[in-house]
Amino acid sequence: MAATHIALFASGLAVLLLLVQGSPPAPVVQCRSGNTNCTVTNGYGAFPDRSTCRVAAVAYPSTEQELLLAVSDATEKQQHMKAVTMYSHSIPKLSCPGGSSGQGLVISTQSLNRSVSVDMATSRMTFEAGITLRALLDAAAARGLALPHSPYWQGMTLGGLLSTGSHGSSAFGKGSAVHEYVVGMRLVVPSPVPVNGYYANIVNLGEDDPDLLAAKVSLGVLGVISQVTLQLEPMFKRSITNRVVSDVGFEQTISSYAFTTYYGDISWYPSQGRVVYRDDVKVPITTKGKGVNDYLGFRAQPTLVVASLRASEELLEATGNVEGKCVLFRLQVDILIATGMGLKNNDGGLLDFTGYPVIGNQSDMQSAGSCLRSAEDNLLTACGWDPRFAGLFYHQTTISIPFTTIADFIADVKKLRDAHPDALCSTELYLGFFMRFVRNSTAYLGKTDDVVDIDITYYRSKDPKRPRLYEDVLEEIEQMALFKYNGLPHWGKNRNVGFLNVTNKLGAKLDKFVSVMQKYDANGLFSSDWTDAVLGLRGKEVVVQGDGCALEGLCICSTDDDCAPKQGYYCRPGEVYEQARVCRKIKSVEADGLAWSA
Ligand SMILES: Cc1cc2nc3c(=O)[nH]c(=O)nc-3n(C[C@H](O)[C@H](O)[C@H](O)COP(=O)(O)OP(=O)(O)OC[C@H]3O[C@@H](n4cnc5c(N)ncnc54)[C@H](O)[C@@H]3O)c2cc1C
Ligand SMILES: *[C@@H]1O[C@H](CO)[C@@H](O)[C@H](O)[C@H]1NC(C)=O
Ligand SMILES: *[C@@H]1O[C@H](CO)[C@@H](O)[C@H](O)[C@H]1NC(C)=O
Ligand SMILES: *[C@@H]1O[C@H](CO)[C@@H](O)[C@H](O)[C@H]1NC(C)=O
Ligand SMILES: *[C@@H]1O[C@H](CO)[C@@H](O)[C@H](O)[C@H]1NC(C)=O
Ligand SMILES: *[C@@H]1O[C@H](CO)[C@@H](O)[C@H](O)[C@H]1NC(C)=O
Repeated sequence: MAATHIALFASGLAVLLLLVQGSPPAPVVQCRSGNTNCTVTNGYGAFPDRSTCRVAAVAYPSTEQELLLAVSDATEKQQHMKAVTMYSHSIPKLSCPGGSSGQGLVISTQSLNRSVSVDMATSRMTFEAGITLRALLDAAAARGLALPHSPYWQGMTLGGLLSTGSHGSSAFGKGSAVHEYVVGMRLVVPSPVPVNGYYANIVNLGEDDPDLLAAKVSLGVLGVISQVTLQLEPMFKRSITNRVVSDVGFEQTISSYAFTTYYGDISWYPSQGRVVYRDDVKVPITTKGKGVNDYLGFRAQPTLVVASLRASEELLEATGNVEGKCVLFRLQVDILIATGMGLKNNDGGLLDFTGYPVIGNQSDMQSAGSCLRSAEDNLLTACGWDPRFAGLFYHQTTISIPFTTIADFIADVKKLRDAHPDALCSTELYLGFFMRFVRNSTAYLGKTDDVVDIDITYYRSKDPKRPRLYEDVLEEIEQMALFKYNGLPHWGKNRNVGFLNVTNKLGAKLDKFVSVMQKYDANGLFSSDWTDAVLGLRGKEVVVQGDGCALEGLCICSTDDDCAPKQGYYCRPGEVYEQARVCRKIKSVEADGLAWSA
């Protein structure tokens, strides 16, 4: 979950409660004239390398036939393409087409948003791929059906969330990744030679088609997903209780917790020494309760309040006041806990968390996102990270670590925490270390093990050359997760370095994926430098070198210039994981020089 923060000062609470408006996010594709000469961004308004994505044009097909035409036209011209979604919530530069800047085409799926069909006998439903998660859950609920697992945020689309392997939390059955519940897909793929007059084909993949294992999680490189059939279940309820305990020894019980709590997840606040368990289980539909998950961090927030929280975060960073961060963020977490994280016992008013358990229909409990739906109010309120105001801006490192080594990983993080008790406060505004469970997958780009997926979200400066407080500790944890514990990145999150060595980690599964990709898009029209780099193709690299590159996770530092020596940040080894190379603030280089020479 990205924006897992709550932008409330104690004094801001009253303001929040009075406002029920909101400003839906701005379009991510902006054009100079009509649908041509456009720029494409993501929901945060910034890619990891902060580059601008320019494209020649955007198409808005509203039927599969129009989609076929769009792909065919571009293929005939050998133009690079990408599907772009309504809000484009992935952090990496996935939605930007390859080829020369300004020459590509983006195909928006925003008007491909219908429910296509339902089979009540099998509880299966088919949707167009541009449907948002919220609309999908509503359409299914209207037939008495529920999607068993989903991400926690309603703003993504079906095609987009599948393409990056998105998930909720569960170690039960096939686990929490939505792609495990895909039983059919239709894609429009390029065709180098005309078929029935089109340079594009419709591929219809059934449940047992091996190519479905590539198409389910594809980073958008096979073509455009037109429709998806999902295996749903009859509606059921969930019962949620958040439980706060000390973090002493908690790492020893993560596995047993995961395998006994159907929808459980864990927020670990390392500097506060607290763990919040979401004891979240399936209950029969007959259980009483009209609960709704209206997670506070995903409500429309008063932009003045969020902007002042951000200003405080920036001031504390600028003045090196880490204790101040710890105090402020602890208060935020206290408010979050006291208000039931935004759970409502009865859908209705705003402050109607009256106590645990909160019980409600799966479709009302599995995700949140009311900041997307509210009426336009000229940015009086908005999603907390909306780039149109000076709100939240962060890095997000999301890496999954196998259950078999999760306790060792947490123990290593605790060593760093114990050596620097305040270092990890910067994550605590954003749910700390937020852990969810995902199972190994037959999908080629799915998880290779049963894993704990950890979201670590932390301050990102608006200035790419500015280092952060305790940046060394977070970099060491990132590298430890990736290399010591061989963690896999979430495809839709992370900084560039998160994708180093990912091809080795996937091994033979990657080769299978690439061969399906070459079958459907032989000329790589849906590939870009970024997807090539991630998939280890055509010699492209995920890292970007240059002064200060390590500050933004564009590289792992190897020289001081990769950090910010003028601001006192030098490239040094990790403390617990010595192979790490991190940007560390050093008071006196001379003294330190004796301790380490590169
Ligand atoms: C606030 C927030 C909360 C989040 N919470 C979670 C969470 O709980 N769990 C989780 O796992 N992730 C979470 N994420 C990450 C999110 O699920 C992924 O980034 C997801 O991919 C976003 O979907 P999207 O529809 O915005 O797709 P985009 O980001 O727009 O697209 C992702 C990729 O898919 C491709 N694509 C999209 N549609 C199609 C299509 N029809 N055919 C072919 N290719 C397509 C695009 O070209 C692009 O390459 C969260 C993100 C945010 C911002
Ligand atoms: C696109 O817009 C930019 C900015 O207005 C302009 O400089 C450029 O000439 C335009 N390109 C085309 C092909 O129209
Ligand atoms: C579907 O898309 C159309 C056209 O973009 C839009 O008017 C409509 O509101 C969307 N429906 C839903 C449920 O999002
Ligand atoms: C929950 O789902 C059931 C079964 O589909 C439905 O009858 C009921 O109206 C739903 N409850 C709420 C509060 O939406
Ligand atoms: C997942 O792991 C289990 C053992 O934990 C194994 O039996 C199963 O075959 C694996 N599934 C996949 C898809 O790799
Ligand atoms: C890359 O991954 C492979 C396979 O998991 C592993 O053997 C190798 O050590 C990794 N390299 C680095 C630098 O971590």
